[in-house]
Amino acid sequence: MQEKYIDETKQGEAFAIAEKPQNSKKLFLESYGCQMNFSDSEIVASILNEQGYNTTLSPDDADLILLNTCSIRDKAEQTVRMRLSQFKNLKKEKPNLTVGVLGCMAERLKTKFLEEEQLVDLVVGPDAYRDLPNLLKETEGGRDAINVILSKDETYADINPVRLGGNGVTAFVTITRGCDNMCTFCVVPFTRGRERSRDPHSIIEECKQLWDNGYKEITLLGQNVDSYLWFGGGPKKDFKKASEMQKLTAVNFAQLMEMVALAVPKMRIRFSTSNPHDMTTDVFHVMAKYDNICKYVHLPVQSGSDRMLERMNRQHTRAEYLELIRQAKAIVPDVSFSQDMIIGFCGETEEDHQLTLSLMREVEYDYGYMFSYSERPGTPAAKKMEDDIPAEVKQRRLAEVIALQGELSRKRMQGYVGRNHEVLIEGTSRKNENQWKGRNSQNAVCVFDKLPGQKLGDFVTVFVEGNTQGTLLGRTVQ
Ligand code: SAH
Ligand code: F3S
Repeated sequence: MQEKYIDETKQGEAFAIAEKPQNSKKLFLESYGCQMNFSDSEIVASILNEQGYNTTLSPDDADLILLNTCSIRDKAEQTVRMRLSQFKNLKKEKPNLTVGVLGCMAERLKTKFLEEEQLVDLVVGPDAYRDLPNLLKETEGGRDAINVILSKDETYADINPVRLGGNGVTAFVTITRGCDNMCTFCVVPFTRGRERSRDPHSIIEECKQLWDNGYKEITLLGQNVDSYLWFGGGPKKDFKKASEMQKLTAVNFAQLMEMVALAVPKMRIRFSTSNPHDMTTDVFHVMAKYDNICKYVHLPVQSGSDRMLERMNRQHTRAEYLELIRQAKAIVPDVSFSQDMIIGFCGETEEDHQLTLSLMREVEYDYGYMFSYSERPGTPAAKKMEDDIPAEVKQRRLAEVIALQGELSRKRMQGYVGRNHEVLIEGTSRKNENQWKGRNSQNAVCVFDKLPGQKLGDFVTVFVEGNTQGTLLGRTVQ
């Protein structure tokens, strides 16, 4: 079972696309961590595209190397440090090369980065990307440059992201930035700042543009999409079918998703991440109402024990979480769930651990992202609680949670066998170039033989004949 938050193969992936032919400088941009970082990198590429930079896949060719970094666990930070050390020789050979760190590690470590990592010239936090052109001028003059100011209102709403290295079929659309929830273990509120929602008009515009450019699936993205709330002084543009919505002066997440579903009626819509504390049944009703909204909720819970949930400041109980799941199942036929779990949080007993396992059995998640607790400096947990679970106990409990999720995934995948599923063709299977891969509405990956006439971006009906632990095996129904 995968342990990373985003597709394992994408961690540290550099993206490149053909951009402005007149640009002469080269940017090597690598992203780590969550989907939000990958989405932010598209904004960064867009800003730098206007400054004469095209992206390259080779650090050796680059005039500027940027790593968009993650601080969520210690391991994520170590990965970035190791990657940076690989650029040392390059920097010696090319004294004019600029190396910069973006994202959460930049925000967390600030000037410390310039002190600790001699080869870093540039440190830019997630709300300061508009300042990149100025900061680069500083570095051209031979000085180090830093901007880690967090903003209360920056949403980059007007910046048209350059779509990096994707398949041309699926895209992320950021709707909120930051997080106000203050879960005690989490560094995000410190690295990404206060929560703010993006103007719905700019979201709709971006979705429509994506559809016009051939995209077939979007994921509405935020640390906590359910707390999306925009107060905005009324409509600015004509929405045609979403005309009802024009009357609204405040828009919540369920309403935003309905606006998107209406504005791009054939586009598949997903969203991530939901927070159980902020999620309401309105969202489930909208999911049920529109065929183009996928029947899948990533609903992190972190623990099945009330005692742990309280210490984590998740602001809901086990019973409330299970009630939310029950309502989703009742309102949205065939809905699927995935989880995030933190194993071995401060004070976790064997009983707490058993409660996590029993909650997983009760929900029957399709998939899970499971992590040992990693203490993050400056967080409420680091300040007030003791990271007291021995590493080997964390490891053993994590292995048990991963094994159970494996069992549940297999069972859920089996449940999809013997029926037809609508699958969006997203690419060629990694294992067999004669097969496509795509996902069904429930987010289960499906592979099937390619047939003449089929192409990337097609919606096809696939009859699922078998499964592995995490994949459906099928054939196209003509
Ligand atoms: N906004 C999302 C989560 C963002 S962080 C939410 O509402 O849950 C992504 C995941 O990383 C979290 O769900 C959590 O499972 C994990 N995580 C966060 N901080 C962690 C830490 N200190 N140690 C281990 N895992 C952590
Ligand atoms: Fe982190 Fe909790 Fe927000 S996990 S991102 S503080 S909802």
